[in-house]
Amino acid sequence: MPCQPSNWSHQRTVIFVGLVFLCFPVILYIYYKPDIKFPDFNISSMIGHQPCPKCVHSQELHPNCSNKEHPDDTQKIQVAAVNNEPDTILLIWFWPFGYKFDISCSDYNITRCRLTDDRSLYNKAHGVLFHHRDMRGISNLPKKPRPRFQKWVWWNMESPANCGQITELNQLINLTCSYRLDSHIPVQYGSLVPVTPKEETFKLPAKDRLVCWIVSNWGAHQRRVQVYNELKKHVKVECFGGGCNQRISNDEYTKIMKGCKFYLSFENSVYKDYVTEKLYSPLIQGAVPVVLGPPRENYERLVPGDSFIHVDDFPTAKELAERLLYLDKHDDEYMKYHNWRKWYEVKMGSFGKEHACKSCRYIQNHREYQRFNDLTKWFWG
Ligand SMILES: *[C@@H]1O[C@H](CO)[C@@H](O)[C@H](O)[C@H]1NC(C)=O
Ligand SMILES: *[C@@H]1O[C@H](CO)[C@@H](O)[C@H](O)[C@H]1NC(C)=O
Ligand SMILES: *[C@@H]1O[C@H](CO)[C@@H](O)[C@H](O)[C@H]1NC(C)=O
Ligand SMILES: *[C@@H]1O[C@H](CO)[C@@H](O)[C@H](O)[C@H]1NC(C)=O
Repeated sequence: MPCQPSNWSHQRTVIFVGLVFLCFPVILYIYYKPDIKFPDFNISSMIGHQPCPKCVHSQELHPNCSNKEHPDDTQKIQVAAVNNEPDTILLIWFWPFGYKFDISCSDYNITRCRLTDDRSLYNKAHGVLFHHRDMRGISNLPKKPRPRFQKWVWWNMESPANCGQITELNQLINLTCSYRLDSHIPVQYGSLVPVTPKEETFKLPAKDRLVCWIVSNWGAHQRRVQVYNELKKHVKVECFGGGCNQRISNDEYTKIMKGCKFYLSFENSVYKDYVTEKLYSPLIQGAVPVVLGPPRENYERLVPGDSFIHVDDFPTAKELAERLLYLDKHDDEYMKYHNWRKWYEVKMGSFGKEHACKSCRYIQNHREYQRFNDLTKWFWG
């Protein structure tokens, strides 16, 4: 067939043009978004395997041609572009409850974030963090116009029962940072981190008490107080703290927890995801938490289901007491509540620092427009 050679070169042109079109968006994307990270997208490997025009020309000579120079160049441009970008600035408007924390994010391996409490940086800040309990309505929020790129982060770790609504915030904030798992920036009171399974089994601290409770804020209307009053009719509960007129020091707090088989992790109010250090402290100290708070399924989103006992697992306080007394007599059954320790360790959250660093990181990674109009409905609704 006489036409074949010219047909072939025509095809080649088509392939070539096709490939140019294929590569163009990739390169454009890299130049346009200089902050994309290689480890996440593995762009370098994508490009390495993509036959680019330069490569196609030499394809006949090197069938497994791989254009080595190209990804290296791209990477250099990338690094240069990222280095030229300013750090993300997060302005901490109030120190929470007046408590100042160290403002380095190195603990979280978060880089290129600058936390500050210097209000003169307001016009440059990419985000401003507002601690709810330090607001007096909106009267002590910034008065100056907000820069277009700036996001306001609402920060709160109290349950809806323990903090008042400020409806004006519905028109003001962009992001939420709280214990709620559906916050933009969720931060729990503690967390479980996986450990390489340990050789030696967990050493149970010496126990000299069966059930303990440490409580400061006492309210007869609280569900936890009602359950406690029922429970203590059937099993001895040793109660400490201001609520029981037995004030204790911080040292005693951990010492008491260690010495108890069970600790009443009773939240002061019952709300979705509201699980505080009352759960995480006994887990750290080696006691088994008996929890009162949101439903079991909610706890199981945070910690293993066999690491705690839920008050709602029992129809009455009497049956709960019977279970605790049974476990006191059956060590192997009791020890099952400590099994999870082979695989996990509990870390307490770092109040303030963790919220600020994670908010800064979030803003760094989300440059898009965001506003949140439903705060009152979402949090108090
Ligand atoms: C990126 O891809 C290359 C080649 O496929 C691979 O060797 C490397 O481990 C990948 N890197 C990451 C972070 O996934
Ligand atoms: C092509 O790949 C083979 C094996 O993967 C390798 O041995 C050879 O050196 C490569 N040739 C070129 C030109 O890169
Ligand atoms: C931070 O990075 C270091 C070194 O890469 C690592 O050892 C450490 O576990 C990381 N810390 C966190 C909190 O991810
Ligand atoms: C933040 O939210 C406010 C009001 O909720 C809105 O006016 C502003 O444009 C938003 N800014 C960004 C950067 O998303």
